[in-house]
Amino acid sequence: MSLKDRLNNNVNKKNAVNSQQIQLGTFVGDMPLSEEFSDLKEKLHTLLIDKVNTTPNWSEYSDVEQKNLIKQFIEFQISTNFRSVPLNKIEHDRLIREIIQEAKGFGPLDPLLSDPSISDILVNGAKNVYVEKNGKLYKTSITFKDNNHLKNIIERIVSKVGRRIDEKSPMVDARLPDGSRVNAIIPPLAIDGPSLSIRRFRADSGTMDSLLKWGSVSTEIAKVLEAAVAARLNIIISGGTGAGKTTLLNSLSAKIPNGERIITIEDSAELCLQQEHIVRLETRPPNIEGEGQVTARDLVINSLRMRPDRIIIGECRGAETLDMLQAMNTGHDGSLTTLHANSPRDALSRLETMVMFSGIDLPDRNIKSQIASAINIVIQASRLSDGTRKVTKVSEIVGMEGDVITMQDIFVWEQTGVGVNTVMGMHSSTGIRPKFLDKITAKGIEINPQIFDKNYRHTYLTKSGNVNHKPSTPVPAEQTKAESARQEVVRKGATLNVDLLKRLKR
Ligand SMILES: Nc1ncnc2c1ncn2[C@@H]1O[C@H](COP(=O)(O)OP(=O)(O)O)[C@@H](O)[C@H]1O
Ligand SMILES: [Mg+2]
Repeated sequence: MSLKDRLNNNVNKKNAVNSQQIQLGTFVGDMPLSEEFSDLKEKLHTLLIDKVNTTPNWSEYSDVEQKNLIKQFIEFQISTNFRSVPLNKIEHDRLIREIIQEAKGFGPLDPLLSDPSISDILVNGAKNVYVEKNGKLYKTSITFKDNNHLKNIIERIVSKVGRRIDEKSPMVDARLPDGSRVNAIIPPLAIDGPSLSIRRFRADSGTMDSLLKWGSVSTEIAKVLEAAVAARLNIIISGGTGAGKTTLLNSLSAKIPNGERIITIEDSAELCLQQEHIVRLETRPPNIEGEGQVTARDLVINSLRMRPDRIIIGECRGAETLDMLQAMNTGHDGSLTTLHANSPRDALSRLETMVMFSGIDLPDRNIKSQIASAINIVIQASRLSDGTRKVTKVSEIVGMEGDVITMQDIFVWEQTGVGVNTVMGMHSSTGIRPKFLDKITAKGIEINPQIFDKNYRHTYLTKSGNVNHKPSTPVPAEQTKAESARQEVVRKGATLNVDLLKRLKR
């Protein structure tokens, strides 16, 4: 096969995967605009800008007052200067709604932003807007007029949080007041036009109860993890982008007792803890002259002087890792963080690499033993192919054997099959009773030791709040045998009957 054929083959394979994930055109948006309608909208919009610019003290009106004034102005224009353009009631209402969105909101993105079932909004240039709903990606019928229009909306979004985007600083990462994370990148860095990603948390996320209801953890795993937080074990949550690491971190942090002083360190504040005694710190990117940067490492070092009971680092990305490990090893236990890795073992090598970012030349074995003595548990979070997020592994770090960090899996997620748009499986125990159990019992928290047995069947919380074995639990081997024996009897019986009928007919 020639190189070109091989390349083409690869491209075809990639496209096949993409078209599986992206279900095109299934999302219901407004009908595309007619040319007449767009024309009228644009004219009215220009008139509105003039009107706003010439209205004295416009900025002193409240949001609601401004929206009402815009509505009155457009209604007046439609009924006088633009009477010749026929509009039915739906078009009339839509015109007013869209002009207000354009003037006061985020234009075409407004309906998406107000739909709580949408978790991610991804805009690739003016004509491609995707959303994630229930873990699946859909293309919408929503478009922007052109790339300039999209860029204006992006500018409006980032300026709301005091940031700017232009040719000199063409990338912005920020958090909206509602907690959504926004990333925008524009040309010349984004080749095909401005690109915007808005990632939102599910409105009902942030508690262990929701993770239980979504089947992301079994009731037993939830109990052990909550106990581990209460017993001040150091925990790392590992996973890919969008695997649910931050959501899991939020849910676990909710279990930190209320009297403790918590310091959170994040690049863009996403955690929303309910505790009273909490200090939230956020890193700062350098300004346009390249000055004023405050890194996560600076904040970790500073946080140690703030008498913390717990340090929570939103995501470990670099040089702060060494300081975090040292903090964990010197009495600041009960710390939590997340990092990007594909397995608990991979998470350890990521930690090693990130320690090296600090520029301090430590021998390899030294780094490993710091990690081994600092971290107690690695939780792996994964996004499965059906869009659901699960805790797929809970592993314990036991210590060092020679030059290798020893680790043992306590709970694992076992996939048993793939149904229509769903992945079936269940959590199971590996049969290893973790060493950290001692620390948990020492705190007076009781955990039934049987849940660690290999043949223990994990239970799940149903939507109605009952505890149940998951319907997707695999059928035990004996039952399968009995079932096939029964089917064999039925089949034979049926043939016998057919034979009998044939004989009778003869
Ligand atoms: N267990 C879960 N079940 C369903 N959706 C989830 C779960 N955990 C997170 N999500 C959703 O997935 C998206 C990504 O979650 P997030 O925690 O930000 O991931 P990460 O930090 O790994 O990038 C969010 O929209 C969030 O609401
Ligand atoms: Mg995250």
